[in-house]
Amino acid sequence: MTKFSLPISALIAASSLLFATSCQTSSTPNNSATTPSNTATGIPIGIALAQTSNVALLGQEGIAGAKIAEKYFNDQSGANSTKIKLIVQDTSGDEQGTINAFQTLINKDKVAGIVGPTLSQQAFSADPIAERAKVPVIGASNTAKGIPEIGDYVARVSAPVSIVAPNSVKAALKIEPKIKKVAVFYAQNDAFNRSETEIFQQTVKEQGLEIVTVQKFQTTDTDFQTQSTNAINLKPDLIIISGLAADGGNLVRQLRELGYKGIIIGGNGFNTSNIFAVCKALCDGVLVAQAYSPEHPGTINQAFRKIYLEQYKKEPPQFSAQAFAAVQVYVEALQALNKKSDIKKLTLEQLRVELNKQLLTGKYDTPLGEIAFTPVGDVIQKDFYVAQLKVDKDGTKGKFEFLK
Ligand code: ALA
Repeated sequence: MTKFSLPISALIAASSLLFATSCQTSSTPNNSATTPSNTATGIPIGIALAQTSNVALLGQEGIAGAKIAEKYFNDQSGANSTKIKLIVQDTSGDEQGTINAFQTLINKDKVAGIVGPTLSQQAFSADPIAERAKVPVIGASNTAKGIPEIGDYVARVSAPVSIVAPNSVKAALKIEPKIKKVAVFYAQNDAFNRSETEIFQQTVKEQGLEIVTVQKFQTTDTDFQTQSTNAINLKPDLIIISGLAADGGNLVRQLRELGYKGIIIGGNGFNTSNIFAVCKALCDGVLVAQAYSPEHPGTINQAFRKIYLEQYKKEPPQFSAQAFAAVQVYVEALQALNKKSDIKKLTLEQLRVELNKQLLTGKYDTPLGEIAFTPVGDVIQKDFYVAQLKVDKDGTKGKFEFLK
């Protein structure tokens, strides 16, 4: 008998021991699944997100949403055999950390499926490992072109840049119809930002606007004086930035400090309230397209929003809602599978394969609204939004205000 051919019931019991160790890496409190009574029952689902490095500005929001989902669905399922338990492995911000996290989740923690990683840049390196091991992966923040195409076991609930990004350009034109000249900035060392800027630049041209300059930077940069001055000298009416939260926030700050007064659009890497700590009051007014609104009227979103608000005293951000939705997909796919045949009798290998097939066929009523998957595993979603960052003058309090 190989180490993968034990029935899932035996693996669940064994992995509760491993879980006690891996939970030590988890930094978010309020995780009821860390109690031994809960870990004894539950199908292990891996969470491979960034808890450290600058990428944690995005990754920790994902972990928060996943943990809310774990408790929410486990509370509902009673003694049901489809209870889950999350195993969190920190990917940090790079590719090697993500590969290590995936290998640990797949080979040591013996998870049925993985949610993550945070960045598309990390997904392009680590997802092929899950693909080869036939372990389902659901991206909950990967928005670059080509993610689901990595393989049969890779899907995502995070809508791609091609669908989300154009909305913010249209919103900027609604606010300021006289926009003509656009300066574009992007982080050239990051796959998602390279993918997003292509869509932004295409949208700008389709709207009949002129791109006056394209400035490049690195996600690790902190000084943007040269690129900012180059762009400001060309007198753009709109600046569009594809970067992550720390670099993007610093770029916004420096553009404003150097006197740029026009509209700024930030891409999906700006989609976290953690950015307020970086550019403070100078973040005010930045437009960011959204694949989630806390005001979505669905019942499950109301429940998710209430729990998030109680726990974090602020509105739930997009990355938390997407991670909740990814965990929900696993839970409901496991339930559907269990109705067909007792999943406890499956080996781990069988469970992973069957779970992957099942999850791609379902429809899910999530906080993002109703979602489903294309045959290749891309999300099908209806509603998109644009929000504007609103920050107090002293820079201490900020929120995303959704445009009507
Ligand atoms: N949306 C970003 C990415 O795909 C976080 O990398």
